[in-house]
Amino acid sequence: MAEQGIRLWSRKDLVAIEDLSRSEIEMILDLAPQFVAVSQRESGIKKVPLLQGRLVVNWFFEPSTRTRTSFELAAKRLSADTLTMNVAVSSAKKGETLHDTLYNIEAMHSDIVVIRHSYAGAAKILADRHPSSVINAGDGAHEHPTQALLDAFTMRQHIRRLRQEENAGLDGVRVAIIGDIAHSRVARSNIWCLKKLGASVTVCGPSTLLPVEIEKMGVRVTTKLREALEDVDVVYVLRIQLERQQKCLFPSLREYVRLFRIDEESLKAAPDHAIVMHPGPINRDVELSASVADGPRNVILEQVSNGVAVRMAVMHLLVNKPQG
Ligand code: CP
Repeated sequence: MAEQGIRLWSRKDLVAIEDLSRSEIEMILDLAPQFVAVSQRESGIKKVPLLQGRLVVNWFFEPSTRTRTSFELAAKRLSADTLTMNVAVSSAKKGETLHDTLYNIEAMHSDIVVIRHSYAGAAKILADRHPSSVINAGDGAHEHPTQALLDAFTMRQHIRRLRQEENAGLDGVRVAIIGDIAHSRVARSNIWCLKKLGASVTVCGPSTLLPVEIEKMGVRVTTKLREALEDVDVVYVLRIQLERQQKCLFPSLREYVRLFRIDEESLKAAPDHAIVMHPGPINRDVELSASVADGPRNVILEQVSNGVAVRMAVMHLLVNKPQG
């Protein structure tokens, strides 16, 4: 199983979507359905032995529900041993550096280290120095590559169903990303990923939450929600990251809700076939109304299910790539 495409993979790490070519992204997306099938087995064991005897370490310096559990489950479904670092009681609290901690973990023969850190670049500095495969699970406001991959996979599933085309890709698909673009590693990874796959991307939010020169990434920019939603296939809603904002970047939450919340009313500007996505966690009734979050157009829990399969594909490629 899962041999198709793997012969062409050469990377040790997954640090940023910016680094990947279109064919590398497609290799991951094309491998993932096999792992969806593993998770959906109704009889038999929901496991394959592709990482048997390997050690996957989850090392999260910031809170996480979806990404941490998804990587842990993905590793277990590949039959790996897993270790979750408890950062709150680790020697990082006594001043041990990231490098020193990882040298010690590697002395116990880790194969993959999944790291989330508030420092943009944390995954890269580890990947450049250490033999373990390093996967970036979110570094500051820089990138969250596996989130973008699972999102692209979910969009592709939707487009394939909609067009009844088994092999449809994201070329020409229109995606609007709404909200706090400036603080969002999810937005950056998604923009890189979607542009590489040929999609057309519009970003929309208050001007204070749109990074300067964001249009240089090849996106259309607007501060008008209605304009952003016209003709889209996907409405991608970002969380308002109150914890990252140093200063008040919009007058009030009430003002944000009035102008930018995706709800039954604002969604009327989008075509009927458009799906609603969100990386989670949701601030219910802030960036997304509860009725849309629970309604028929949302694919939010499909994103979560697909995340396990996409992460299985990533870990398989990184560890089982041809030796060269
Ligand atoms: N989407 C995402 O990164 O969610 P968590 O913060 O729960 O991992």
